[in-house]
Amino acid sequence: DEGLHSPSYPWSHFGPFSTFDHASIRRGYQVYREVCSTCHSLDHISWRNLVGVSHTEDEVRAMAEEFEYKDGPDDNGDYFDRPGKLSDRMPRPYPNEEAARAANGGALPPDLSLVVKAREGGANYIFSLLTGYYDPPAGVEIREGLNYNPYFPGGAIAMARLLFDDLVEYDDGTPATTSQMAKDVTTFLSWAAEPEHDDRKKMGIKAIIMLSVMTILSIWVKRNRWASLK
Ligand code: HEM
Repeated sequence: DEGLHSPSYPWSHFGPFSTFDHASIRRGYQVYREVCSTCHSLDHISWRNLVGVSHTEDEVRAMAEEFEYKDGPDDNGDYFDRPGKLSDRMPRPYPNEEAARAANGGALPPDLSLVVKAREGGANYIFSLLTGYYDPPAGVEIREGLNYNPYFPGGAIAMARLLFDDLVEYDDGTPATTSQMAKDVTTFLSWAAEPEHDDRKKMGIKAIIMLSVMTILSIWVKRNRWASLK
């Protein structure tokens, strides 16, 4: 059973010339931090990746410093705790897989860095999954500890519904409805899976402009060169 096919949503970053909605990435980071990061790691992303994308450098430094990182060994061979810095990766919720499974009834919350790319349906699937918790239809038995979600392959997922209206408070005043939070965290995870996305598209636009200018120029030069010969 491959799960219900998710509808297609008009993501602002779909389309050959469209870049991410950066205000949405910022709100989505907040949802990841306050909700998802309790269980899900984001191993491919460092604090510095957020700078200039969703936050200023000062903001990111302050955010990183709220977390303690193990470092060392120092000159005496000792390990020590220090506040986070820009070059650190996002902190993990669990020290290892065993601990992660133990806290989640045996299920493993996957690392979310590449999940948008790894799952069939990408952003549409993640949004549908997060907003797709319903009562099971009559006759469908869901095992203890699992939750009915028709978008999840198999229809029964170990992750419970997490997003409820007003769970977070956005600093830009956007109402934090369930679907707004799902959209924002999905946009954030789409960026995380492809942080170079906007640069790639901007380079593409520049390349097209450059090639057009060069084409027009070479036509003009050719016309001029041959103008005296009738
Ligand atoms: C699975 C996203 C919060 C526990 C997943 C999956 C995604 C996801 C994309 C993979 C589904 C698949 O395999 O196709 C999120 C997001 C969250 C969030 C965006 C925040 C809004 C949480 C929290 C917990 C949790 C807070 C723990 C309390 C799990 C578990 C699985 C899972 C245990 C594995 C489910 C299974 O294999 O049955 N999550 N999650 N998640 N999540 Fe979350």
